[in-house]
Amino acid sequence: MVMEAVRPVTMLRTPTEKAPEPDLGSKLINKERYTSPEFMKLEWDRMWTKVWNCAGRLQDIPEPGDYFTTELGSESFIVVREKPGPDGIRVYFNVCLHRGNQIRNPGMGHAESFQCTYHFFEWNIDGTLKHVPDIETFAQDVPMENFSLHEVKAATWGGFVFFNMDANSESLEDYLGIIPEHLDPYHFEEMYIVNDKTIEWDTNWKAAVDAFNEVYHVQGIHPQLLQMLDDVNVQIDLYPKHNRYLVPFGLVSPRYPDQEEITEPLRMMMRGAGFDPDTFEGAMADVRPAMMKGTRDTATKMGIDVSELNDDQMTDDYHYMIFPNLTFNIHATGFMLFRQRPHPTDPNKMLYDITNATRIPQGATPPARPDHEHYKHGEISLGLVLDQDAYNLPRVQRGMNSRAYEGLWINYKERRIRHMHQTIDDYVFGPDR
Ligand SMILES: [Fe+2]
Repeated sequence: MVMEAVRPVTMLRTPTEKAPEPDLGSKLINKERYTSPEFMKLEWDRMWTKVWNCAGRLQDIPEPGDYFTTELGSESFIVVREKPGPDGIRVYFNVCLHRGNQIRNPGMGHAESFQCTYHFFEWNIDGTLKHVPDIETFAQDVPMENFSLHEVKAATWGGFVFFNMDANSESLEDYLGIIPEHLDPYHFEEMYIVNDKTIEWDTNWKAAVDAFNEVYHVQGIHPQLLQMLDDVNVQIDLYPKHNRYLVPFGLVSPRYPDQEEITEPLRMMMRGAGFDPDTFEGAMADVRPAMMKGTRDTATKMGIDVSELNDDQMTDDYHYMIFPNLTFNIHATGFMLFRQRPHPTDPNKMLYDITNATRIPQGATPPARPDHEHYKHGEISLGLVLDQDAYNLPRVQRGMNSRAYEGLWINYKERRIRHMHQTIDDYVFGPDR
């Protein structure tokens, strides 16, 4: 008798209910938080070195010995698969214990061991010291047993590798809180990278987070988006550390002058959902439901199981911010992730990582891994919407440095920004401040 596979009784579902609103006050947010080297140092000492940071994707290190580096602030780390399985990932500071040389240049590869190129000190992939040339010439001895690469905590979720420099930190699971429950229905672990870029942006890392955590600026910076999404009826939920908003797509904004016009961006979305706008006979109110059905049918036909996602998730942007610096635009079968990293020394600069990933049917061959690309500000177009943000952010940073500017005077619609600052303060000044 053949046993049938049994689906779990409880299906995964992203909760949609509104979270209770915390009282965040309405105080000015001091601009020095975006401009001063002193605050940058506080953030580094008390926050970046204490939180769980995203390093990259598990897909890049499938086999023992596969590794990639990840850079955060002034530090670099080697992320290596030591052995198969979920506990097989190790993360080391990318520094030779002999003379301080970085063991690997930024990038990815495969290693049977990590040999420093300076004097050929060599470490095993489990971090233990393997070989020291001319070891008898160290009068003080080299304690082979205790001269391992400095390791930090590593953990995985959703196909991502995370690391934490604080040996006493909470677990990744506790840190992520509601996030797995909310996002596991999308099956990030079945998504593969199709675009991977880093751009050096001339702004503080928080200004780049802020730019994606409110849609109040859509009418100003991205007027074309009023033709395809609702920037007014946006549910905002603030959780411990993390937050989200749910942006309805597949309709025109209440701010858009012609509420009955099936706009060109909507027609493009209809094609993306697998049907022809030229033969579509419905009215404006029928567009979004038709897109929901079309997207679900198309995914299902491709062999992608979207049964754990609700109808809104077929069209909308479920936009999550995982503190401190992961911003996810999530649609039915893929995500666009922004990782905002602090610059090593300059509060007026940052590194903006953009990664697109797409879900593939179970058992299908993943798309070829694109090379990582790195650019300076303005060197490459990221598409109209992100180009508009990229144009704007250096101007914001310069303005924040003006003696005439005191700080962020933000409204209720922008409260995800206030929420992030409160969480930063929990780290920098303590929860009992
Ligand atoms: Fe924007």
